[in-house]
Amino acid sequence: MISKEKVDSHPSFDSLFPAGANTLPKKIMAGWMNKIHAGDCLEVMHKMPDQSIDAIVTSPPYNLKQSTGNGMKNGNGGKWPKADLIKGYDGHNDCMPHNKYVAWQRECLTAMMRLLKPTGAIFYNHKWRVQGGLLQDRSDILEGFPVRQIIIWRRNGGINFNPGYFLPTYEVIYLIANPDFRLAPKANALGDVWQISQESNNPHPAPFPIELAQRCIESTTGQVIMDPFMGSGTTALAAEAEGRDWIGIENSHAYCRLAKGRIDVYRKLR
Ligand SMILES: C[S@@+](CC[C@H](N)C(=O)[O-])C[C@H]1O[C@@H](n2cnc3c(N)ncnc32)[C@H](O)[C@@H]1O
Repeated sequence: MISKEKVDSHPSFDSLFPAGANTLPKKIMAGWMNKIHAGDCLEVMHKMPDQSIDAIVTSPPYNLKQSTGNGMKNGNGGKWPKADLIKGYDGHNDCMPHNKYVAWQRECLTAMMRLLKPTGAIFYNHKWRVQGGLLQDRSDILEGFPVRQIIIWRRNGGINFNPGYFLPTYEVIYLIANPDFRLAPKANALGDVWQISQESNNPHPAPFPIELAQRCIESTTGQVIMDPFMGSGTTALAAEAEGRDWIGIENSHAYCRLAKGRIDVYRKLR
């Protein structure tokens, strides 16, 4: 659990994001649109113009290999012997010291907030976990950001099982919204617990299901959707299914190729 002092040492939202940036003409974004940009998401986002994105749907690495007591840390998988993430990601070991991980994710969210229009929102998928007997609810990452609501993603089942633990079947999605963000008409009827089956048949170690990304996107009215941790391209597929434009960033060339392959197949079948 993170101490209050550490949380309080983070700068406030207002000091991070002073108001007044300009909205851009659409044509400036043309070169970014409907492409996977290979590279570090912070470096790529820093090149993008202010207030150019309507919505962000993303799932960052969870830093799972820093979990205590479940064997992810020492690499043998412990109680999760079949966990795909034992080896981390292709270009990221998922094993940062916790404070560095928190600082990195705050930097990523800060970069995302700069890119969001005043009507924009981020759907930030993460996982709560018990660490040292206490809930790690990610408030250290999110302190100062305008979290409007927490959605529970309830999976139909889990892939890991340990007789000492109830089967884990949920993750969370933080809706981080700028003041002028409004849900699409009737989207509020979806409620705040979404039951959606886990993704299968995807060689990426930690994909979310297309339906999850699609539900986030259809809950918004904006045209330009971004995912700075694009992985296997799920957000792009969901954006195309919803008739939106998208921008994807991914630092693993292998996952970029995987995403491009999935998008090509989707476009052929459409
Ligand atoms: C949880 S996965 C996202 C999976 C994605 N939602 C999907 O459905 O395939 C996180 C992704 O972030 C990527 N990643 C890690 N560090 C990154 C960085 N610095 N910049 C861009 N991508 C990064 C990993 O390679 C991984 O594919």
